[in-house]
Amino acid sequence: MESCAKWFSFSTSYLKGSEDMSVKKGEVIELLVSDMAFGGRGLAKVDGMAVFIDGAVAGDRVRARVFKKKKSFAEARVVEILDPSEHRVEPRCEYASWCGGCKWQFLDYAKQLEYKRNHVVESLSHIGNIQDVTVHPTLASKHIFGYRNKMEFSCSESRWLLPHELSDPEIEKGMGIGLHVPGTFSKVIDIKACHIQPEMGNKLLGFVREYIKSSGEPVYGLKSHEGFWRFVMLRHSYHEDQWMVNLVTAQDKPEVVQPLADALREAFPEVASVMNNITSRKAGIAVGESEKCLAGKPYITDRLGEYTFHISANSFFQTNTPGAEALYSKVEEYAGLTGSERVIDLYSGTGTIPIWLSKGAQEITGLEIVPSAIEDAAENCRRNDVTNCRFVLGDVRHELPDVDVKPDVMIIDPPRAGMHKEVVQRVAELCPERIVYVSCNPATLARDLEMLKAHYEICEVQPVDMFPHTFHIEAVARLERKA
Ligand SMILES: C[S@@+](CC[C@H](N)C(=O)[O-])C[C@H]1O[C@@H](n2cnc3c(N)ncnc32)[C@H](O)[C@@H]1O
Repeated sequence: MESCAKWFSFSTSYLKGSEDMSVKKGEVIELLVSDMAFGGRGLAKVDGMAVFIDGAVAGDRVRARVFKKKKSFAEARVVEILDPSEHRVEPRCEYASWCGGCKWQFLDYAKQLEYKRNHVVESLSHIGNIQDVTVHPTLASKHIFGYRNKMEFSCSESRWLLPHELSDPEIEKGMGIGLHVPGTFSKVIDIKACHIQPEMGNKLLGFVREYIKSSGEPVYGLKSHEGFWRFVMLRHSYHEDQWMVNLVTAQDKPEVVQPLADALREAFPEVASVMNNITSRKAGIAVGESEKCLAGKPYITDRLGEYTFHISANSFFQTNTPGAEALYSKVEEYAGLTGSERVIDLYSGTGTIPIWLSKGAQEITGLEIVPSAIEDAAENCRRNDVTNCRFVLGDVRHELPDVDVKPDVMIIDPPRAGMHKEVVQRVAELCPERIVYVSCNPATLARDLEMLKAHYEICEVQPVDMFPHTFHIEAVARLERKA
């Protein structure tokens, strides 16, 4: 394969040869993809202008249609691959080009890990102005397929037809259960097999689909807001191999859902729980206003390391179990606890990090805004005989100033938006000796670290891949207080 530089010059000279060099909306242009941009898209430059290309990999030479043009950048979609990148691989999934689930299935996994690390490095440098930090190679996920322990499939009365199906007069139209075309709320691809969940999940989905089709009850219309069946959520416990099927419906009709629950338990011994969440809300959220256990227990059980957790239909649990264990091991290593430390864990969820660290600390205080997560955290402590963790309910921004602990170590694992500025200030005032920052968004990680770097040395960052075939990346940073 010729070098990128050569292709790039070829590409731009081709464009210069055309009558009008500027990129125009609706136009099909030839591009050499030089890099991967955040959001999973390929990046090419045309006369200095960045063009972000859906479905392209660095090293590809493609023809792409421009569908958006702004002053400083354009967006395009691949029409034809003229010369594939050497890093392209055949996606396992037949829906890979259309489904919003995993946009990087066509990219070699080693290259995915490299781009994810680059993204962390570039965010730290460009957003946080942090250049001199060691960013380790990305820790790979133990499984690159079958890794997701939770999937949520939407029901649609009219499934979205794939391009090759449109011209087939025999094709079965009508209801579908699956995942959305990216950026759409009403276009649902009828997914027969999703390879990022364990294979049993596909069997369960197929079984439920057939039942729904013959149930006589209509599927909920995403535009009409009428109908019965709304979502099928599947959860799996990695270490215990138990499954939960959560049927989300618009009304309470036990005579319709109970036979399905009984049939599932009869056909699949692995199904430990069948739940029914009932919601009349228009918003497309799979959490019900009320919840019923139709069969088995109202939860499944899984482990993280030596600790056991009950996972109910709506409780938060990291979606890649071995990935979470790798992440928490890194947090433990970076926290460097010796048994005597007082620890504050901000954004503590269901208490999994405090419980994981409990043996190494004198005491741990977790702060979390969701009441059910706090209840789960307390219950998880009881179940695991952990007695040195306590949890404070509320917004970190409002609760942290009142917490009566002078921490030696702080663990911070915020949502994608990162920390509020006031929280960063309060953390700096508390001035723990060490901070371990866990982030699912390199941009906000970089922004928050920039605010902390006056007081802390940013010693090292470890990217951890929890979501193969997506562009998402977790990163753990170790910060030591400056002398
Ligand atoms: C990325 S999750 C981390 C959960 C946990 N550390 C884990 O590993 O499972 C972020 C958590 O922050 C909580 N959260 C979001 N905003 C918050 C806020 N303003 N104050 C307190 N907790 C918040 C969310 O409910 C969620 O549980």
